[in-house]
Amino acid sequence: MLETAPVKTLLLTPGPLTTTEMTRAALNRDWGARDGDFIELSKRIRRRLTEIAGAADTHTTIPIQGSGTFAVEATLQTLMPRSGRLLVLINGTYGRRIAEITRRLGRSVATITAPENQAIDPMAVDRALADDAAITDVALVHCETTSGILNPLESIACVVCRHSRRLLVDAMSSFGALPIDGGRTPFTALIASANKCLESVPGVAFVIAEVGYLSQSAGNATSLSLDLYDQWRAFEADGQWRFTPPVQVVAALDKALDQLESEGGVAARGARYRRNYEVLVEEMKALGFEPYLQPELPACVLATFREPREKWFEFEQFYNFLRNRGVVIYPGKLAAEPSFRIGCIGAIDEADIRYAIAAVAEFTRSAPLTRASAG
Ligand SMILES: Cc1ncc(COP(=O)(O)O)c(C=O)c1O
Repeated sequence: MLETAPVKTLLLTPGPLTTTEMTRAALNRDWGARDGDFIELSKRIRRRLTEIAGAADTHTTIPIQGSGTFAVEATLQTLMPRSGRLLVLINGTYGRRIAEITRRLGRSVATITAPENQAIDPMAVDRALADDAAITDVALVHCETTSGILNPLESIACVVCRHSRRLLVDAMSSFGALPIDGGRTPFTALIASANKCLESVPGVAFVIAEVGYLSQSAGNATSLSLDLYDQWRAFEADGQWRFTPPVQVVAALDKALDQLESEGGVAARGARYRRNYEVLVEEMKALGFEPYLQPELPACVLATFREPREKWFEFEQFYNFLRNRGVVIYPGKLAAEPSFRIGCIGAIDEADIRYAIAAVAEFTRSAPLTRASAG
């Protein structure tokens, strides 16, 4: 329950996140799904997304209705042969989820698990691929949003390529903010969604897949609606989505891509997020909060902080205090210890981070007193 109506709402969450008015305004129009205008729009976003990944010569983008997990599930079941074996590189929730999806699909899974505060070691991947000839595919989470850690995509991609296996990358919370160049970093498929670093609204995700593999993947999927191959064939046949598209959401993504371009592309967006991250971490440390990751590890899209052990801190109370001031943060997802997360992505800048910090500072001043007088 809100104590007071906040003056503004800042979603400092890893998606859905704060969007611009321009993006939200794009929702305010009806589109015929089979109409030429919408077909053109769909074609445009597919092309733009492939270009952002630097993969226009080799890959194609297949949008899919739903959240990011729908696209992950579609990728696993379409691009992996039914007899395939997937090596999942795990250092957080989203890696664990990939392993879980693959098991549910009834496909063979091997794992490498690192602690949540350590990046995946490319040498360990090298050894695993050398030792297990049955592995056909490798899955990596680029930025593991559980902690915000950045995994070494380029080095791992080189290892996987050297062993001639396929690489499936969950780039959900990095695509649009961290440079990924398909020309230099060989990947078979890269998965992301509209509502993270592209700063659009939720409802559509997409897979940037290598056409050579995609065209051999007919019949792999065991689901009708999550069959990426069929989805791709439909787009190629007449430019239309197979099933009802989230028309407004696709239009908003197109507008969000305009704004990514006018901001200066991925490099400029990444720099804004990095600045947000640096200010956030510096100021939170000054207030006595301890970042979970060592300084060289984060992708700078969100920061994870350890929950203070002192009695005055209680996450629910902290969350509600910030929420009443219009600042929405995320609870932690670490398996090992209590934590919370503050996102640096979305249509926010340093001033917004400082606004959030002022609310945190107010909490740190008042909470110990409130608790002491209650106790
Ligand atoms: C790295 C990563 N993968 C997958 C997902 C799942 O996406 P969704 O919640 O949109 O299904 C998320 C969501 O935060 C994520 O950060």
